[in-house]
Amino acid sequence: MPNENSYEVALQKSNAIREGLAKTPEKFTMLTGDRPTGRLHLGHYFGTLKGRVELQNMGAKTNVLIADYQVITDRDTTEHIQDNVYNMVMDYLACGIDPDKTMIYAHSAVPAANQLMLPFLSLVSEAELARNPTVKAEMEASGHELTGLLLTYPVHQACDILFCKGNVVPVGRDQLPHIELTRTIARRFNNRYGKVFPEVDALLSETPLLPGLDGRKMSKSYGNSIALGEEMDELRPKIQNMLTDPKRARRKDPGDPATCNLFPYHQLLSSQQTCEEITAGCTTASIGCFDCKKLLIDALDCFLQPMRERRRALEADPERLRAILEDGNRKARAEAEQTMADVRKRLLTTFANTHSLALQQTMFAMGEAMIAEQPEPLVVRLPGAPDRRWRIAAAHGDCLWVEYGSGTTVHRILIDGGPAHTYPALRERIATLAEHIDAHR
Ligand code: TRP
Ligand code: SF4
Repeated sequence: MPNENSYEVALQKSNAIREGLAKTPEKFTMLTGDRPTGRLHLGHYFGTLKGRVELQNMGAKTNVLIADYQVITDRDTTEHIQDNVYNMVMDYLACGIDPDKTMIYAHSAVPAANQLMLPFLSLVSEAELARNPTVKAEMEASGHELTGLLLTYPVHQACDILFCKGNVVPVGRDQLPHIELTRTIARRFNNRYGKVFPEVDALLSETPLLPGLDGRKMSKSYGNSIALGEEMDELRPKIQNMLTDPKRARRKDPGDPATCNLFPYHQLLSSQQTCEEITAGCTTASIGCFDCKKLLIDALDCFLQPMRERRRALEADPERLRAILEDGNRKARAEAEQTMADVRKRLLTTFANTHSLALQQTMFAMGEAMIAEQPEPLVVRLPGAPDRRWRIAAAHGDCLWVEYGSGTTVHRILIDGGPAHTYPALRERIATLAEHIDAHR
């Protein structure tokens, strides 16, 4: 944790931003994100998702990143990542993030943003990276030695925030050191090369932290979380088994909501009147924990029901889900290309590209047009194999990504030649690829 002093400063700034947001939301660009390592839960909802929806609806520019490329920061496998990413998009939409207002995209689909990594790394010292308290804590929790990636991922996070010129990042207290580093990097870059990047501030959540079912931090790995849209069959027993105030060993013993695992949930999910009734009933032993739990179960059901419905509609329409993500990816790529063009100009490295900036921009535009105007997906028929429908997923620079599959299992392949391809040439190339893939099954 950063020391109290810097926390106080961050809190003051955060409050100032809140005032600014209310007056001129259009001046703010939010970026925040999540690593797709599992399902989102109620802790995430009250900690950050709710705040994102508020910023979105206020009229700030809102960007949400699915940090799939950062999953390997402290894990050895990317198993289930496709499912996790699509589930994350569903959860975002279920809790009110609107893809028409908020850009939702995946790290791995925006390679250009990674190119900020080199200039940014040149602006920080090893000592600065090594003293980051959050990185230290994560290293200890991982049980591994400090990898180069874990040490430098806060710089990668600075790339995330700055590629879209984000100036407000809603985060928890543990992320403050990373925001501080992002500010430092932006300031040093601007001083050295000219102003490209904005000043970034953290927006600290005003909602009190929702603990897990056992009172510890809510986390899927502790088995004490409630997933967004969780079904009642699963949820009911979890609430029924929750430990309550230890003073209420018997029904007639009075208790104290302040020392009960359940009460923080009521504070966020039940009306003020219900909370007052519970407090009065608990401290005089006129209601039992059984009744109190029943009230909570109903409140949770009510809260989760609309999320479940929205999730169900999306589960039934995987194509829409894919289209939403692809749309966000495309917008993010366009933004990254723009920022990188600016950065290259400042670093005087525009010559380092095989193509002039103007040509690159033309190719980029051609690529976007090619995706937008692609005819029906290319169907490849191979004897003895099912028909496969291929589509162009992304194109820029010299590169073209084609993919096949649907729903949550999509295989994406990079081919070079990019937008210069003609459709007949592309069809031939894809036929060869498909043959190759089927031969290796
Ligand atoms: N590191 C964050 C996490 O593990 C996710 C993240 C990646 C992020 N890039 C970001 C958060 C940029 C805020 C801003 O949850
Ligand atoms: Fe907790 Fe409610 Fe029981 Fe009081 S009555 S101890 S608040 S569960």
